[in-house]
Amino acid sequence: MVFAPQGGAFCFMANTILIGAQWGDEGKGKIIDVLTEKADLVVRSQGGANAGHTVRVGAKEYILHLIPSGILRRNKVCLIGNGVVINPTSLVKELDGLRKKKVSVKGRLFISDKAHLVMPYHSELESCAERLKGKNKIGTTLRGIGPAYGDKIARTGLRVADLINEQRFESQLRERVRDANRLIKALGGKPISFKAVYSEYCSAARRLKPFVANTTGMLHEALEKDKEILFEGAQGTYLDIDQGTYPFVTSSNTTSGGACTGSGMPPNKVDHVMGVIKAYTTRVGSGPFPTEDDAIGDMLHNMGREFGATTGRPRRCGWFDAVATRQAAQVNGIDQLAVTNIDGLDKLSEIRVCTAYRLRGRTINYVPTVSEDIEQLKPVYETFPGWLTDTTQSKSWMDLPVNVRKYLNAISNLIGAKIVIASVGPARNQTIFR
Ligand code: GDP
Ligand code: IMO
Ligand code: MG
Repeated sequence: MVFAPQGGAFCFMANTILIGAQWGDEGKGKIIDVLTEKADLVVRSQGGANAGHTVRVGAKEYILHLIPSGILRRNKVCLIGNGVVINPTSLVKELDGLRKKKVSVKGRLFISDKAHLVMPYHSELESCAERLKGKNKIGTTLRGIGPAYGDKIARTGLRVADLINEQRFESQLRERVRDANRLIKALGGKPISFKAVYSEYCSAARRLKPFVANTTGMLHEALEKDKEILFEGAQGTYLDIDQGTYPFVTSSNTTSGGACTGSGMPPNKVDHVMGVIKAYTTRVGSGPFPTEDDAIGDMLHNMGREFGATTGRPRRCGWFDAVATRQAAQVNGIDQLAVTNIDGLDKLSEIRVCTAYRLRGRTINYVPTVSEDIEQLKPVYETFPGWLTDTTQSKSWMDLPVNVRKYLNAISNLIGAKIVIASVGPARNQTIFR
């Protein structure tokens, strides 16, 4: 399908996986919201309420954690796929938040019965693990994500299908709370009360039951009808459990393959992979970050930007890293790029881009495997002239200052993928299609 969102430039949609190509918070929520206008179905397939996707609609701001950002477009159908880990209480809270803002989800939100549950003992175990790690902590969102995926892989997880069957849930939960409490006590944490969790989760289950469905079946019905499907990635490539800066990562496959396994989408039905990048780089939590630069962080924080959407923590900031992003384009198969937050660089007279790394006297053009090596990288920078112009009112590619276009073209060439969207503000109408 071809569409021209603002007249002129065309954008090819079809079935698209949208992923973050950095360390998360690239602006995926905003871009999903814009693209949903022309999609039929929006699917989340991994991660959990560790995600925080911000969408600005007029004067209202929404932060979505588990529900796909596509929900803000009337009549669009949204699926929470089998690969997502769901805290039922968080999901109910999110539904309540949408209801308060008059967003109706009736008949257009569906939750996979195969999705795993995040339980209160997961969060408690995670707090213990982080505390014990001391200064080596991962800096997680403390949403229980790692332990929930751990249980899934260890085959001791509880799923949505279990939650909605009160009897089965009771016996399974009793056993799991008993086992988890043994661990929690050994780690010096606060044991979980079976009764309290059972009652809290059963009450959430009653709210969620009408949404539970065979989402893979629904996806395939949509494919048969040639519907346009958009996959909303959470986190980013360098937080991927396999491709990221392990162990400072999240516990799911955030890269494009995760969209298939986490939903039941066959890889050969995917038409495009769109990578979302910021015009600079940010990261929340611990772990190596080669192009980190405190001065850029101070500038952005002073502008009131770059505070985490889930935890409110200030994000670490740095220059654009073309080495890491090129590698992200390779592992995801990115053929289209959306660049956000271009306006964040409006006040700089010079802008740097990392084009290679130096490691122990050698020049390399890939992200090393071991985090101690990544910590030691010395970025090799190319410097670009800034534009010192407010870009937030730019309406077309040619409206953008020439130095912006030069900068974006350079990034596109370094990464090896074309830029189809340039974003100059959080609002829907601050989006330029190329
Ligand atoms: P996500 O997790 O990838 O969806 O990104 P977040 O929502 O966590 O963080 C991105 C932040 O950037 C949000 O506050 C967005 O509203 C904001 N944003 C997205 N695109 C732009 C842009 O082009 N300019 C500005 N100023 N803000 C943007
Ligand atoms: P969105 O979808 C940025 C980070 C955490 C921590 C690491 C592991 O909004 O881009 P976890 O709680 O997942 O076990 O934490 O991953 N992290 C994110 N950083 N954006 C996110 O999601 C993130 N989700 C997790 O800060 O470093
Ligand atoms: Mg976010």
